[in-house]
Amino acid sequence: MIEFYNVDLNIDKKTILRDVSFRVLKGEFVYLTGASGAGKSTVLRLLYMDLFPDRGTVIIERYSSAKIKDKEIPYLRRQLGVVFQDFKLLPDRNIFDNTAFALRVIGMPGKEIKKRVLRVLTDVNLSHKRNHYPEELSGGEQQRAAIARAVVNNPIAVLADEPTGNLDSDNSMEIMEILQKINQNGTAVLMATHDNELISAFPHRIIEIKEGRVGR
Ligand SMILES: Nc1ncnc2c1ncn2[C@@H]1O[C@H](COP(=O)(O)OP(=O)(O)OP(=O)(O)O)[C@@H](O)[C@H]1O
Ligand SMILES: [Mg+2]
Repeated sequence: MIEFYNVDLNIDKKTILRDVSFRVLKGEFVYLTGASGAGKSTVLRLLYMDLFPDRGTVIIERYSSAKIKDKEIPYLRRQLGVVFQDFKLLPDRNIFDNTAFALRVIGMPGKEIKKRVLRVLTDVNLSHKRNHYPEELSGGEQQRAAIARAVVNNPIAVLADEPTGNLDSDNSMEIMEILQKINQNGTAVLMATHDNELISAFPHRIIEIKEGRVGR
């Protein structure tokens, strides 16, 4: 389970979040909405513990922002798959190696890596591009590769920060279908977006941030 519990966050003496509480249950799909600058990306950074609250607690499964040690943060992040608006693939590795990266870091046997990577690349309809480099792929394809990379380690949740922000509407729809499928297989999805059309096409619970607080 993912939980924000009475979180306050200030950056450079400016209050970004005040007393924010919410929960995302196992296997839920939730949108994080709010105007530009409302704090959506900041909420996601608090969840993968790139930032820590000034007050309150962020909980991801058995990890708490109040107690986690620096050396545990990589283990926490292995429970989460993160997807960004600008893809953030490694430019000097092909799509297979981009996807395999996190599995190699944890020392998984090569044979198992190959099996898993080919499976997730097939899930995002990209196995035919596995030997290509990111710059040889379209935006939609790069985002599909980024999603494959995010889910290859079977995270409990995918955190997606405007994953369709750089894509046209057809590619956005395809990304949404893939996120739906991932969610139907039991992975929670927390997606920051301000695309109301997408939200209407794929309705799920909405957490809205407004003036630093969570409304409904
Ligand atoms: N590193 C930083 N230093 C100073 N201020 C920051 C920093 N990161 C974020 N902020 C401020 O925190 C607030 C929330 O930013 P955040 O990026 O979370 O918004 P957002 O909802 O993701 O916006 P967008 O829709 O434009 O991506 C903004 O006022 C922003 O200026
Ligand atoms: Mg943002």
